[in-house]
Amino acid sequence: MKNTQPVRSTAEYQAMDAAHHIHAFLDQKALNEEGARVITRGEGLYVWDNEGKQYLDGMSGLWCTNVGYGRPELIDAATRQLKELSYYNMFFHTTHPAVVELSERLFSLLPGNYSHVIYTNSGSEANEVLIRTVRRFWDVMGQPDKKIFIGRHNGYHGSTVGSASLGGMAFMHEMGNLPIPGVEHIAEPYWYAHGGKLSPAEFGLKCAQELEAKILQLGADKVAAFVAEPFQGAGGMIFPPESYWPEIQRICRQYDVLLCADEVIGGFGRTGEWFAHQHFDFQPDTLSIAKGLTSGYIPMGGLVLSRRMAEALIAKGGVFAHGLTYSGHPVAAAVALANLDVLQGEGMVQAVKQDTGPYLQRCLREVFADHPLVGDIQGTGMVAALQLCEDKASRQLFANEDDIGWRCRTHGFDEGLIIRSTHGRMIMAPALAITRSQIDELVGKTRRAVDRTAQELGLL
Ligand SMILES: Cc1ncc(COP(=O)(O)O)c(C=O)c1O
Repeated sequence: MKNTQPVRSTAEYQAMDAAHHIHAFLDQKALNEEGARVITRGEGLYVWDNEGKQYLDGMSGLWCTNVGYGRPELIDAATRQLKELSYYNMFFHTTHPAVVELSERLFSLLPGNYSHVIYTNSGSEANEVLIRTVRRFWDVMGQPDKKIFIGRHNGYHGSTVGSASLGGMAFMHEMGNLPIPGVEHIAEPYWYAHGGKLSPAEFGLKCAQELEAKILQLGADKVAAFVAEPFQGAGGMIFPPESYWPEIQRICRQYDVLLCADEVIGGFGRTGEWFAHQHFDFQPDTLSIAKGLTSGYIPMGGLVLSRRMAEALIAKGGVFAHGLTYSGHPVAAAVALANLDVLQGEGMVQAVKQDTGPYLQRCLREVFADHPLVGDIQGTGMVAALQLCEDKASRQLFANEDDIGWRCRTHGFDEGLIIRSTHGRMIMAPALAITRSQIDELVGKTRRAVDRTAQELGLL
């Protein structure tokens, strides 16, 4: 596929970028010396840079372009909606057809115990809204002392003050005195790194039971909710042992602590189910959504509420003192609906569950099971992680795993592949629209990147 002619040279774009941007999660000085990669075009599973180099996008942008790039259905929906009603809000006693149609469809995909949604522009905002809504819920339930949120170390829920507090990224907390008061954290269920001599099942139970200990320490009458990603995304695509979620759910129910699932990455088909909590078979009270809702074509997120919560807030809550100018934006809603049409109409979620997902997972295991640099392979559907390790038998991680992961990811770029490194884990989450031959390409290029890294380390 030919790239369109660059409007400016890459060096010009890089200089302008360096002059004006502070990028996400990067040392800006180092980036300015290196120059940002300038991506100019996307189609299907591929993106092109300003030099015309093609990349297979193994990360679907940032876990979001679930239907792939450039789908005319989504583009046409945006155009139609822009012409019809380019903006209106949900203040002033109003609604509009685009948002109503979207919600009708969204709840047709969800189990019947969910009934209401508060739309946002992003996943971070969804989790900000979560904090306020959960606290309001306990107020109207006559339990105003239930205010504390429990999250997990190395969990990720966004970059704003509240959402970064719910998350457990120490390096984020160091910037700006986080977490805010009223947020506590427990251990992550990362067996490979922290499981020691315990079996995965024992370790999963142990991590879950930390929640019970924390609730008892703080007092169940003070704890509002436990918030977690069904599988950790930004933390390294960490899948908890099977024993983990049933025990977490038992504890939340026993102490009447709300169970809040962050479905920002896991939602909209990533695991082969519409939502990741369905894959892990637990029933949260709230779902934070974003990313795959619009396949990233336009910003939109939301907080989905259980019927129990929504009914209490409506019946007893009076004025809900919250509102965002762009909540339920008509263009975003129209694009989201078109996105759900494509996901459903083309059976993409089903394909991930029955065909492409098992194929990807099988190929990864066949290709990497005996690789000297890969200690573990985790994942399901269209999400996976390769755990790099120094010694497979003892699960010894590299002391400089950040550096090794980064080198592997850089070899990937060289091979025309975008995968991401999170510490010593190589992570991938391609668009759900991927074909079997594109999976072969993804796995083949990943193999070359991992081999090149292993050669540098003298392991191959
Ligand atoms: C699980 C999870 N929650 C929340 C967010 C934040 O979403 P956003 O970047 O749209 O604010 C992310 C982003 O990657 C995420 O992975």
